[in-house]
Amino acid sequence: MSATPPPANLALPVTDPELAHRLQERLDTVETLLSGHVRARTDYVTEAASHLLDAGGKRFRPLLVLLAAEAGDRPGSDEVLTAACVVEITHLGSLYHDDVMDEADVRRGAPSANARWDNNTAILVGDFLFGRSSELTADLGPDAVRIQAATFTRLVEGQILETIPAPEGTSALEHYLEVVAGKTGSLIATSARYGAMFGGAGKDVEDALAEYGEIVGCAFQLADDIVDIASETGDSGKTPGTDLREGVPTLPVLMAQEDAAGSTDPDDLRLLDLLSRPLSDDAEVDEALRRLRAHPAMDRARAYVQDRAEEAKKHLAVLPAGPVRDALEAFADLVAVRTG
Ligand code: IPE
Ligand code: IPE
Ligand code: MG
Ligand code: MG
Repeated sequence: MSATPPPANLALPVTDPELAHRLQERLDTVETLLSGHVRARTDYVTEAASHLLDAGGKRFRPLLVLLAAEAGDRPGSDEVLTAACVVEITHLGSLYHDDVMDEADVRRGAPSANARWDNNTAILVGDFLFGRSSELTADLGPDAVRIQAATFTRLVEGQILETIPAPEGTSALEHYLEVVAGKTGSLIATSARYGAMFGGAGKDVEDALAEYGEIVGCAFQLADDIVDIASETGDSGKTPGTDLREGVPTLPVLMAQEDAAGSTDPDDLRLLDLLSRPLSDDAEVDEALRRLRAHPAMDRARAYVQDRAEEAKKHLAVLPAGPVRDALEAFADLVAVRTG
C-alpha cells in the first residue's frame, strides 16, 4: 500500500509550513485508513474495490475535509479522519458507476473497472463502496447519516438528470448547472461541512463552508468539463472527448452553440452539427475537439469558472484572516485554473 500524491497542479494549496505538515500527516493517515476500509471478505471484491483506490486520484474531497476542519478546535480528531474516508469512498463508488454510464475505458490512468472486469462487477463494487461509506458514516452519528443520505440522493439525481434533455421551460445551461450541482457540488459541499462540523467549528462556519464547498464543487466540475476538451490524451488520466462521445453538452459546448446559433458560416454549421449528437466516430471526435479547442467559447467558459471561484471565496469571510482562510482561498483558485 502506498500513499498517492496528488498531481502537482492540485498539490496542497498551503504556504504555511506548519499547516502543510499537519495536513500531509493526516492525509497519509487517511490513505492508510482508506486501504483498510475497501477490504472485503473475499479477495475478488477486495481486488476490484482497491483497483481505483490504488490507481491514484487527487484526494480532493478528503483534503477539503481536513482543511475545513482547521476552522475548528479539534481538526485532527478521529471523526474528522473518518469523515475524510466517508467522502472519498462515496466518491470512489460514484466513479465505478459513472464509468459504466459514460462507457469510459480509462480512469485515474488505469483501465476502468467496467473495462478491466465488466459492467456488473463495476456496478456491484460501486454498491459495495456505498455500503462501506454508509457503515463508516454510522460511526459519526445520526446527523452525519442524514447529511450523507441527502448528499447521495442529490448526487444520484444529478447523474440521472444528465441523461435526459432539459425539461420544457428550462434552458440547456440551467439544466446543465443543476446537473453539475447535484452530481459534484453536493459531495464537495458535504466535504467542507463535515470538516467544519467534526473539527468543532460553530454552525455559522459550518453553513458558510458548505456554501463555499457547493460553489467550489460546481467550479471543479466545470473545470473538469473544460479539461475533457482541452487535455491531450493521458494528461488527465481519462480519455479526452468522453462527454462528446456521450453527447453530454458541457459548458464550453453550450457556449459555442450559443455563439454559433443562427450563423450561416460553414465552420459554425459544421461545429453545430458535430455538437448536436453523440459522436462514435474517432475522426469526428478529433475534429470536434480541434474545433472546440480553438473556439473563443473555451476562454469564456474558463472565465465563468474563475468567477465562480471568486464567488465561493466570499463565503470565507466568516473565518479569521490567517493560513487556514488563505489555504481555502488558494484551494478555490486552484480548482478554477486546473488543467488535469
Ligand atoms: C472526477 O473527480 C469526477 C468529477 C467530479 C469531475 P476527481 O477529479 O476528483 O477524480 P479523482 O478522485 O482525482 O480521480
Ligand atoms: C462524474 O462526472 C460525476 C460523478 C462521478 C458523480 P463526469 O462523468 O463528468 O466525470 P469524469 O470526467 O468521468 O471524471
Ligand atoms: Mg464520466
Ligand atoms: Mg458522467
